Amino acid sequence: MQAASVAVLLLLGETGGHMIMNTPKPYNLDIQPFLQVDPMSGDHYPFPCHNQYSFATRTPVEAGHATLVNFTGGAQHGGGSCQFSITYDEPVGGGGWNKSAKFKTIYSIIGGCPAVFTDETHNLAPAAKDPSMREDGKHCGNDSGIDCIRSFMISIPKFLRNGPATFAWTWFNKLGNKEMYMNCAPINITGGTGDEKQIEDLPDIFVANYPNDPELPTCITGTHNDKVVVNFPNPGKYGLILQGPVEPVNKPSGYCTQIPKPSALPAFE
Ligand SMILES: *[C@@H]1O[C@H](CO)[C@@H](O)[C@H](O)[C@H]1NC(C)=O
Ligand SMILES: *[C@@H]1O[C@H](CO)[C@@H](O)[C@H](O)[C@H]1NC(C)=O
Ligand SMILES: *[C@@H]1O[C@H](CO)[C@@H](O)[C@H](O)[C@H]1NC(C)=O
Ligand SMILES: *[C@@H]1O[C@H](CO)[C@@H](O)[C@H](O)[C@H]1NC(C)=O
Repeated sequence: MQAASVAVLLLLGETGGHMIMNTPKPYNLDIQPFLQVDPMSGDHYPFPCHNQYSFATRTPVEAGHATLVNFTGGAQHGGGSCQFSITYDEPVGGGGWNKSAKFKTIYSIIGGCPAVFTDETHNLAPAAKDPSMREDGKHCGNDSGIDCIRSFMISIPKFLRNGPATFAWTWFNKLGNKEMYMNCAPINITGGTGDEKQIEDLPDIFVANYPNDPELPTCITGTHNDKVVVNFPNPGKYGLILQGPVEPVNKPSGYCTQIPKPSALPAFE
């Protein structure tokens, strides 16, 4: 079977479909092997970025301004919490991405990422498919609609360094199997002041729900039946609280004990 038909089958084989970031344009959105809609997994979709790095153009991103982040997606898993981050590490060498690549958090959203529902136990009805046959639902066109896929204007710190970088979206879903999603996009930053101290001081992204891997933290945010809205341990200074954090009623073994109590809300600037 040809590579193209294999990739299409993989996409169609995912009943639910899950979500991907479509803007900024991620690696392998429309280049083989196609970016899959699945969460990260050690075997097939490793940390970081599913180990994908093929692209034709970098999205220009202006430091000190907000950039649009948008999604395509089937199963929304009740929404959840997400982070947006930047790395200047590059996927180089025969092996692609380095697991120690440092993804620095520039923005955290607690709850409502990327959707809020009147009945969150149901995913949005499939409304369309993208050109690579990924399922899509109804879009809100903003960061506040209900029963639709939201998009966000994410502030890009002025102090970033100019030039090529990778922008990432990491997502911890609220309902069902607790997973970690990560999509990455090649960007080119302009207008930044390049303050290395402030870049270094940005917190690393939260990593959880990843299979056993000696190189990565391995805590879990809950079990299948828990409803969880992650309250990030190190959310950084910039972000939004769109739904209050929710922790599992009974914390499972292996729970991420560094997650702050729901009452300890960050004071975002
Ligand atoms: C992986 O990335 C880390 C952190 O940037 C760096 O120190 C290390 O040298 C890299 N390793 C390889 C094999 O590129
Ligand atoms: C956001 O989008 C929703 C659904 O498309 C719409 O009903 C709502 O008025 C919009 N809110 C704002 C603030 O534009
Ligand atoms: C987000 O992506 C969807 C799917 O491609 C598109 O229909 C929608 O117009 C986009 N929203 C924005 C705000 O660009
Ligand atoms: C980034 O943008 C600058 C300014 O437009 C341009 O000169 C440079 O070639 C771009 N770099 C990359 C890697 O795209």
